[in-house]
Amino acid sequence: MSIESWTNRLTQSRLWRSYFRHGWPDNPLDRSLLMTSGLFFHLHPVKVNRKSLRWSYSMGLGIITIVLFLVLLFTGTLLMFYYIPSVERAYPTMKAIQTGIPLGQFTRDMHRWAAHLMVLAVILHAARVFYTGAYKAPRQFNWVIGVFLLLITLGASFTGYLLPWDQLAYWAITVGTNIAGYAPIIGSVLRTLLLGGREVGQNALIRFYTLHIMVFPLLLILAISYHMWRVRKDGGLAAQEVSDTPDAEPEGTAPEADQHDDNTSLADTGRDWVIFPRNPSKTYGLVELMSGTSPMVNRGPENTVFSFPIVLLLELIIFLGTTFLLFLFSLARHAPLGEMANPTITIDPAKAPWYFVGLQELLEHMHPTLAGIVIPGVLVLFLLAIPYLDNSRSGAGRWFTSARGKRIVLWTTLYTLVVMPAYILLDNLITPREALRGVLPGYVSQWLIPIVVIGLLVALPVLILRRWRPTPREIMLTLFTVMFVSAVIFTLSGFFLRGPGFKLYPPWNMPGGYNPLNDL
Ligand code: HEM
Repeated sequence: MSIESWTNRLTQSRLWRSYFRHGWPDNPLDRSLLMTSGLFFHLHPVKVNRKSLRWSYSMGLGIITIVLFLVLLFTGTLLMFYYIPSVERAYPTMKAIQTGIPLGQFTRDMHRWAAHLMVLAVILHAARVFYTGAYKAPRQFNWVIGVFLLLITLGASFTGYLLPWDQLAYWAITVGTNIAGYAPIIGSVLRTLLLGGREVGQNALIRFYTLHIMVFPLLLILAISYHMWRVRKDGGLAAQEVSDTPDAEPEGTAPEADQHDDNTSLADTGRDWVIFPRNPSKTYGLVELMSGTSPMVNRGPENTVFSFPIVLLLELIIFLGTTFLLFLFSLARHAPLGEMANPTITIDPAKAPWYFVGLQELLEHMHPTLAGIVIPGVLVLFLLAIPYLDNSRSGAGRWFTSARGKRIVLWTTLYTLVVMPAYILLDNLITPREALRGVLPGYVSQWLIPIVVIGLLVALPVLILRRWRPTPREIMLTLFTVMFVSAVIFTLSGFFLRGPGFKLYPPWNMPGGYNPLNDL
């Protein structure tokens, strides 16, 4: 019997019809029905714009994040069959999972690396969305949901960090929750609320466990579902809003900007589907009465493909690629498990998890409330406000918006790569806080001086840019780049360059053979 007749028998069977209600999706009608009739499939539109499928646009980071979250749900559920959230039994059960349970170590490794990678993927996805201007109308609110997703992801990862109940977990959470304690007025209440007491103990473990296995996953499921629904309702990805015609330049583009920098040049659109390619010998004006071209010039009938099978195949490839990478990671390196938590023996250096170690680095340079609460608070508010500060629609879906935007990002990155490491080093050498102790009031050395210095370093590129009359998008590009690159520098410094006593050391000369990678 031929394949065709087998397919026919299958798709005509009662079982197939009871679920799919249509034939094999090899024609436009059945492909559309497939997408609208199933719970999973209906998350997708029937057709998607080709531009939003380009790897160079989204890099699949949103889907990668979802895959990592699914792996976390699966491996986390397996771990829950054995884990007991009690200060006496948590650590022994972790040991048992690693040594006595088939694939226990592997499951824990997958869970740990997927958690780290998810935090990384969310940060990169947010940066991608920002640099492609995809936060612009009508996607402003989805950006806001995204900022909450970022915070929830950090919360989910942070609360999981305590559960192994080893020294690394205990001291990382002690350092991390101390930062919350620096909030003015409500700091100690907040910390007590989080820990269920003054110290990290049984109450903290059960609170973190509940937040980790219940509250944050539920919030993530709800917020991701809403985020995906909004992507659909906002008309798909912003990439498709980039004009097909190469002469449509966004505002703020320098006159000499390369027009073909637009990632949808004529060559790119594919001559085979352009109905009326632009002809340079024609003016397209109607006897001087009308200017411009007809909407069909340089356009195809539709720049879309059916979701089945292309989008589903791409998603499958991302799923397999991400899980394969996690497999390799888990085979190459085990999740760490140190000695059992002991509140009487401090580990040195005691570091927060890597995504908060940038804040710990900042704490070395200014008053803890300024570093731990005010600056992160201002950053989150800035992230939330971006789409409302830059409310023009132009340039959405295009990396850096224009050639000039690209140059601004490049120069701002180079600037930040010079000034922020210099600030860390100089402040570490001179330590004005110590030098001025007793000479000036504390609020001057711990608050005023750092605010003025950091404020100037952040504002300087914007002040320089004013000479070229920047658009709001270009100011956002500058501020976001200073913020993003600074966060990376502070994180790298706190993670790789801080050794015992949280002092700065060259990474190749860490005392006592301290290896920061063991803290992951
Ligand atoms: C758990 C975290 C997150 C998940 C699972 C997620 C998932 C996704 C997915 C699958 C897409 C479709 C496009 C793509 O794959 O890139 C998307 C688009 C989008 N996401 Fe997220 N996201 C998350 C966090 C964030 C964050 C932190 C932000 C911003 C702060 C954000 C803002 C957006 C916006 C504005 C879009 C539309 C992008 C466009 O039109 O090009 N998301 N997200």
